[in-house]
Amino acid sequence: MSSGRRFEHLISIDDLSKEDILYILEKAKEFERVARGERTDKRLEGRILANLFFEPSTRTRMSFEAAMKRLGGDVINMTAHEASSVAKGETLADTIRVVGNYADVIVLRHPLIGAAKFAAENSIVPVVNAGDGAGQHPTQTLLDLYTMEKEARLEGLKIALMGDLKYSRTVHSLIKALALFNTKMYLISPPMLRLPEEFIEEVETHVGARMEEVGLEDVVDEIDVLYVTRIQKERFPDEEEYRKVAGSYIITAELLERAKDSMIVMHPLPRVNEIATTVDKTKHARYFEQAFYGVPIRMAILSELLG
Ligand code: CP
Repeated sequence: MSSGRRFEHLISIDDLSKEDILYILEKAKEFERVARGERTDKRLEGRILANLFFEPSTRTRMSFEAAMKRLGGDVINMTAHEASSVAKGETLADTIRVVGNYADVIVLRHPLIGAAKFAAENSIVPVVNAGDGAGQHPTQTLLDLYTMEKEARLEGLKIALMGDLKYSRTVHSLIKALALFNTKMYLISPPMLRLPEEFIEEVETHVGARMEEVGLEDVVDEIDVLYVTRIQKERFPDEEEYRKVAGSYIITAELLERAKDSMIVMHPLPRVNEIATTVDKTKHARYFEQAFYGVPIRMAILSELLG
């Protein structure tokens, strides 16, 4: 029997139609004042969220917690798996089955691609993918789209995606979503970190993504958004390979001198050194606003799953 929800779990951005995405963005707008603590809304009172994070997180874990608490709900956490029964050899399937008895929704971050899908198949409560290895990060994508809608626009955008396009789950989810909004995407990365060929083939063929590999200097004066990502040391199978590309690009205020006044710089954060702190003070920086928008977006997701 259908629950009447738009989605039962949120595992991949592929789970959402364009209409679903626009619905979530609209709901987030309604929640923004609650997210800022300017209005009270306790619609999730009595509901419990379980955060299961097998990888480090600041923004995703804390903004889910803030979203749940602002809406009157409660949160239980399993952060250090050394301190949980996972350290005794408990499987992910068993952990998910057990935690489903303690909570109404599970938010899972895991280093393995496919872990969230596997968890959803073994869960009696909704599961939200908070990042599965180099796979997907759909709630980040929704907050990224929300940031673009608020700070630039969504339809017909020209965006440069810069950095680690190979391992970045954030970029993988975002490209699929942006293709729904008639976006021109410029890809800028060190050769070792190019978007994988099979992914390009999939999104060009099945999603209709329009992408082109360029250098930043070729497009800096025409783009609406510069989306920068970190080179993720933790994704490299070999530290020597990481050292070959570490620090290979740094966005500075000078590099943005030819940019349109309205061009915005985004980053899912955390950053290491790929955006100089001097950019923070420019009219282009939006990455801290972007981090805030995670709260209303996650409120919208939780109210859809639990409402
Ligand atoms: N953007 C993001 O996923 O940040 P965290 O790793 O801090 O959750």
